[in-house]
Amino acid sequence: MTVSQARFTRDQLNVLARAEDVTRTSNALRRVGNKVAFVPTMGALHEGHLEIVRRAKRIPNTVVAASIFVNPLQFGPGEDYEAYPRSREADLEALERAGVELVFTPDVSELYDSDAAVTVHPGPLGDELEGAHRPGHFAGVLTVVAKLFNIVRPHYALFGEKDYQQLVLLKRMTRDLNMEPSVIGVPTVRERDGLALSSRNRYLTDEQREQAVVLSAALTAGAHAGHHGPDAVYEAARETLAAQPEVAVDYLALRDPELGPAPDEGEARLLIAARVGGTRLIDNAGLVIGDPI
Ligand code: PAF
Repeated sequence: MTVSQARFTRDQLNVLARAEDVTRTSNALRRVGNKVAFVPTMGALHEGHLEIVRRAKRIPNTVVAASIFVNPLQFGPGEDYEAYPRSREADLEALERAGVELVFTPDVSELYDSDAAVTVHPGPLGDELEGAHRPGHFAGVLTVVAKLFNIVRPHYALFGEKDYQQLVLLKRMTRDLNMEPSVIGVPTVRERDGLALSSRNRYLTDEQREQAVVLSAALTAGAHAGHHGPDAVYEAARETLAAQPEVAVDYLALRDPELGPAPDEGEARLLIAARVGGTRLIDNAGLVIGDPI
């Protein structure tokens, strides 16, 4: 592992903390015909992140770059920015084992000048669902990802479908702002009982861990009811949630795949956010409304 030096060595993990070193490396890789696939993360890596890396590794002729940066701009007051799990050494080892060749690990001052004021506005979808509960969150996400894209200069950027609204907004950002990277969504990795992997699962006590399964169970019940129509989806999901009253649901929402209003028929997405003890979890699933095709 090469730490914080500007020179890039192929087939090993290069850890760079300065933006200009990352851009210089990416430019050099691009000049000789490589494609750069980028996996932005906030660290505290789990199998869900490594699945995204594995997907990136399958893109031909590609150098895989990742970033580890807990982005203060996407945490609201009273959220878990300070407490967010940080496990740098284990993360770097996991990325190295997964075949990542470049990791950008900036500190806050490397990315944000103290008087930085310009941000990316997510548009109306940024105020719905997660955005309604976490004001400013998506402006923080889009701003840091836009900055990372400018620094890393990737051809592809890969994100987990678990943060589905984030994925939709990032696709829109690249389209609306004519950004280069193709955004690729990677399906959620789940525990055997259905719980979606998340860095925040480590906050759960054993009892809360049991309770948290109700999120994915509700999505599955809702998805199975899809052919009976939207009302049946809500009914089935709510019935499942009612069995676990300790889990406080922030929203359960049926939308189209772009997160517009739910269709009466065709592809849809069911999204949920809930608090289990002090931990806020999100999950979602794709489903078909009406007759299966
Ligand atoms: O999904 C995440 O881990 C973060 O929101 C991201 C995309 C790395 C931006 O900080």
